[in-house]
Amino acid sequence: MLSRLARPTAVLCRGLATSAQVTSALTKTAHQHVFFFFSQNNAKVAVLGASGGIGQPLSLLLKNSPLVSRLTLYDIAHTPGVAADLSHIETRANVKGFLGPEQLPECLKGCDVVVIPAGVPRKPGMTRDDLFNTNASIVATLTTACAKHCPEAMICIISNPVNSTIPITSEVFKKHGVYNPNRIFGVTTLDIVRANTFVAELKGLDPARVSVPVIGGHAGKTIIPLISQCTPKVDFPQDQLEKLTGRIQEAGTEVVKAKAGAGSATLSMAYAGARFVFSLVDAMNGKEGVIECSFVRSEETESPYFSTPLLLGVCALNDGAYKQKLLS
Ligand SMILES: NC(=O)c1ccc[n+]([C@@H]2O[C@H](COP(=O)([O-])OP(=O)(O)OC[C@H]3O[C@@H](n4cnc5c(N)ncnc54)[C@H](O)[C@@H]3O)[C@@H](O)[C@H]2O)c1
Repeated sequence: MLSRLARPTAVLCRGLATSAQVTSALTKTAHQHVFFFFSQNNAKVAVLGASGGIGQPLSLLLKNSPLVSRLTLYDIAHTPGVAADLSHIETRANVKGFLGPEQLPECLKGCDVVVIPAGVPRKPGMTRDDLFNTNASIVATLTTACAKHCPEAMICIISNPVNSTIPITSEVFKKHGVYNPNRIFGVTTLDIVRANTFVAELKGLDPARVSVPVIGGHAGKTIIPLISQCTPKVDFPQDQLEKLTGRIQEAGTEVVKAKAGAGSATLSMAYAGARFVFSLVDAMNGKEGVIECSFVRSEETESPYFSTPLLLGVCALNDGAYKQKLLS
């Protein structure tokens, strides 16, 4: 046991490894959870789809972080302007914009983390699956470039439908012979953020102190908030519990409807995406006990991809009993 957990939500250990900054292997377990030291607070992060509704505020939050030393922004439109604008902010991250496919390789070179919010968002009446035809090929193209130019980077996919874009990314990496399931993450953090917020509202708690694991997938009924596993413990009558669960599952649609054709969640998604990246980078920097839920290659259920709480970093715990409890 290499690290201890303060919270009881860890059910999976995942190892992280980075490329350029790798200096020494710390430890290795039977499950090949390899952890490497990473130059502290020196993350090189790329955002693909950086000019969009999510991409811009996400890039702002990343630029604002002392954890990030280089921020490369890629899109098929407007990145020179976005990068010029962000580059004037008095924080250390060096910002550069890249425009169009011919500049993508340069954007990715040496990256530790790549976040992908590229693609079209939902309009009222659409499900996430309706985005498949457009976004599947965008994600396949972008992740092909990642497999070629930064095969060891952590890949964080925001583009929907996440339930499909993660299998697509996995297949792309397999095709290029560089597949490592520990480095491909579907960002479901917004489901957790929403669950924490809604529970806190109902119980009059500080949302920053509420933690609800959300497992399963990232679409409607596949989103499974484990309110019974909330920290601190909360109780709801059955009807309120069902209403709350439904609201968490349909919270994305709530925003799509409220935006009335102007897109889906962008600001809360940018917050959630940044939270996930910071957790990853914290773990890469050696912080222990970092836990985030994410949609990943999984053996927890019959589904080959599933979101569960993951302990990022040094392998510490694989609590089978707790895992079983969560799944049931
Ligand atoms: N995972 C989640 O919880 C979550 C939450 C909200 C939205 N999303 C998804 O995030 C995606 C982006 O949403 P948005 O609101 O930012 O959309 P948006 O339309 O505002 O921005 C998308 C950006 O992607 C860019 N883009 C399109 N094709 C590209 C390509 N081939 N290469 C690079 N960039 C490309 C566009 O130019 C645009 O700047 C959507 O698929 C949406 O469904 C996911």
